Amino acid sequence: MPLRIDDARMMAAAIPSGVTPAEWNELSIGFGEVHKAFADGRKAGKYGFLDLESQHAEFERVRRFVGTLTATYSEIVVLGIGGSALGAIALRTAFAKHTSVPRLHVVDNVDPGTFSALADRVALDRTLWVVISKSGNTVETLAQYAIVRAWLKRAGLAPARHLAFVTDPAAGPLREIAVRDAIPAFEVPPNVGGRFSVFTPVGTLPALLAGYDAGAFLDGARAMRDRCDSAELSANPAGLFGSLLWRAHQRAGQGTHVLMPYSDGLRDLAPWFVQLWGESLGKKDADGLPAGPTPVGARGATDQHSLLQLLMEGPADKVVAFVRVAAHKGDLIVPANGDVPEAAAFMKGRSLGELLDAEADATARALVSAARPSLTITLDACDARSMGEAMMMLMIATIYAGTLYRVDPLGQPGVELGKKLAKEALSKGVS
Ligand code: PA5
Repeated sequence: MPLRIDDARMMAAAIPSGVTPAEWNELSIGFGEVHKAFADGRKAGKYGFLDLESQHAEFERVRRFVGTLTATYSEIVVLGIGGSALGAIALRTAFAKHTSVPRLHVVDNVDPGTFSALADRVALDRTLWVVISKSGNTVETLAQYAIVRAWLKRAGLAPARHLAFVTDPAAGPLREIAVRDAIPAFEVPPNVGGRFSVFTPVGTLPALLAGYDAGAFLDGARAMRDRCDSAELSANPAGLFGSLLWRAHQRAGQGTHVLMPYSDGLRDLAPWFVQLWGESLGKKDADGLPAGPTPVGARGATDQHSLLQLLMEGPADKVVAFVRVAAHKGDLIVPANGDVPEAAAFMKGRSLGELLDAEADATARALVSAARPSLTITLDACDARSMGEAMMMLMIATIYAGTLYRVDPLGQPGVELGKKLAKEALSKGVS
């Protein structure tokens, strides 16, 4: 079954701050305009992430490249940050088997401890470093690249065999280096920004290198995009997600939006969503006023022993979006005749997956009893197609929410100052 959203616990029938029938009507009618703005933007080529067809040729290039690497590498290391890393991390967590080779690592920070510890663990002659930067100008990624390049030189290894780039088709220093040194380089279309780029080689190159089913991932994305071609709110999962969360913020003061997967495989969907929702929507609005929700990531059942207390009894300013899977991988049964302590005797003969599901249900019901809103996104499984559906749904929801919040979801002007000050400090030798 395709991705589905249960929004019953967002409604006034379930909680006092929920959506009334009159509000639902208003949201549904208003969504016509929101969807039209999206469709117009799409037609004008603003949302390149939707145009999966025109990226097909590049996907095939990536596939051919990966096909030529006959068991050459035991380690693939992605160097990138923000939108150039979080998608690959989410895919690795969703799909990786601990025994799979090559192993996929993503270094998305410049903490020297992490980077040098990884370098100590990998065999340089069996490692492919995938440098990902849409702009090619990101100092963290360029610094990592320069260090790796020096390691390769010292070891006498050919850069063109141990490096691959994903960057702009024409602009930026990585593209120049690729041309100069014949380093394989794949393209991020100019109209696809970092946090919207997981369906380009930013996500598909690491995925294919690590042996994941990137084709099914793109199929899921395509199916979701086509489902969201509807201006009818109840038929459009991204419209529902974006509209309900925006309305909760604007009408009920619930501007903290918690994405809480009940699946370890989906754990890193949460930080990916946090960047997407936060960096896209946290902006000055059309009147120059601060706007946008505060996204938070959590994980069930682990955070029932942590954040849940706050969600239940802390400030009533949050909406929880649970993400669940219909089928768990490798489920395990608690033995019916085993040594099960009395406190957990009800688990005899039941599986860990059943326990996780029961806890997800119970948490949603407990939130209702505390008059806190939640919705549940259900995926068939933690698999490539479902991940494609979920990520596309959340990206389209972000564009809709941009219209509702009256912000431009595509830029990130607020992050520039920090970058500028760091650069100035290092240029002057100030630490
Ligand atoms: O979403 C974004 O645009 C950012 O988070 C970028 O992905 C991040 O700043 C890295 O940029 P780049 O890919 O140009 O190195």
